[in-house]
Amino acid sequence: MPRLRRWAILLSGASAAVMVLRHARGPAGVETPGGIVMGDAAGYDSLSRLLLGSFYRSVAADIAAAAPLGGQILDVGCGPGHLANRLARDHGLEVTGLDLDPTMIERARANAEQAVAADRRPIFVVGGVAALPFPDRSFDQVVSTLSMHHWADATAGLAEMDRVLRPGGRALVWDLRPGVVPLHRHQPDPLDKVAGSPLHLASVTPWHWPWRLTLTQRIELLPGDGDAGTAGT
Ligand SMILES: C[S@@+](CC[C@H](N)C(=O)[O-])C[C@H]1O[C@@H](n2cnc3c(N)ncnc32)[C@H](O)[C@@H]1O
Repeated sequence: MPRLRRWAILLSGASAAVMVLRHARGPAGVETPGGIVMGDAAGYDSLSRLLLGSFYRSVAADIAAAAPLGGQILDVGCGPGHLANRLARDHGLEVTGLDLDPTMIERARANAEQAVAADRRPIFVVGGVAALPFPDRSFDQVVSTLSMHHWADATAGLAEMDRVLRPGGRALVWDLRPGVVPLHRHQPDPLDKVAGSPLHLASVTPWHWPWRLTLTQRIELLPGDGDAGTAGT
């Protein structure tokens, strides 16, 4: 087996183990009224940079595949901005990242300064998904990775995502599959929250990460205005 591939598999296994251990007693972090924030933003920044690179790469490619040229993307719960920065740098999209945690937003801005040319950098905003500080119909896609199970009111969050989506847009949420974290007592199924929101469920797909394991799922949602997901067509 080529050495690079062996390392990739080892890293994938390590990332899965770290993730499972971190979630064994509930989402790691500090509970706030809007949701659970990570507590150690610097630690999460380094860990996610090291272990989630392949995840962000495949997710970014999936988002970009259906985005209109120069499309406007909102990344909810963007954390240290690794996905948002990749979308802006590698795919030329106009990206806004939003997170409840001001220290995460500081890190996202600092990471963007290192990784993305000045004229392409995402805008990073402090805020919660349940009260998005944006006008109606402002984004072609609203995306979110590994964040939804941290939201205090996911149904309100999904309603806000619906409000800020343009007709023909779509929401894409990647989150843990229910039951994948063995010792986790309260791992909610994100799909339970979709039922009470104006967004329509288009598809749920197991997502290969890490390596060939599928700890996460991709949930595609369409706005409740009756439009089919035609962004980028
Ligand atoms: C596990 S981190 C994921 C960060 C990033 N999306 C990634 O994939 O690396 C979860 C993030 O969700 C944010 N978060 C939690 N509740 C939120 C809410 N109600 N609105 C916006 N962000 C929230 C946290 O502050 C944290 O940065």
